[in-house]
Amino acid sequence: MILNLLYISISGNTRSFAKRIQQLSEAKHEKNHSFPLISIKEIHDNSTVENETTPYVVVVPTYLEGGNGLDSGDQEIMTESLRDYLTSQNEHQNFLGVIGSGNKNFAHQYCLTAKQYAEQFNVPLIADFELRGNPKEIENIYHILSDMCQKYEQ
Ligand SMILES: Cc1cc2nc3c(=O)[nH]c(=O)nc-3n(C[C@H](O)[C@H](O)[C@H](O)COP(=O)(O)O)c2cc1C
Repeated sequence: MILNLLYISISGNTRSFAKRIQQLSEAKHEKNHSFPLISIKEIHDNSTVENETTPYVVVVPTYLEGGNGLDSGDQEIMTESLRDYLTSQNEHQNFLGVIGSGNKNFAHQYCLTAKQYAEQFNVPLIADFELRGNPKEIENIYHILSDMCQKYEQ
């Protein structure tokens, strides 16, 4: 199975994660074809909306202005074009879940945008990682996605 991974990246961390998890998927798939291949697509401010007709997950970094993640409002900044891209989809049946990138220094706001996407689009929060994601996180997340694909195909 091919799983599409849609992402946005402002300072390059999420792009690095996406490229490395794609490479890992190629290595795993080569050894055993039951492992899914991950195909990546970066969303930009000027991306043309295409309806996603095959299964996909979304990786979003967290950029918030104001608020504390608990009881005061916060505003998504920098990543809105990804939200707009998703909102513009005709339907969300191929949208399998969200992965968040963030920094734990932001405490209660850690990966909050991913949590907000999960709520808005009614999909699971699959995983989170800090910054670019270390090799262990990438391996773990690939295995979660692989399990998800197996269930999807059943
Ligand atoms: C201005 C700014 C605000 C941020 N706000 C948050 C935040 O509220 N919560 C969080 O978990 N990480 C926050 N981060 C960390 C980023 O989400 C993190 O560095 C992420 O990996 C960036 O991804 P990118 O390099 O793909 O753009 C912030 C970073 C910056 C520069």
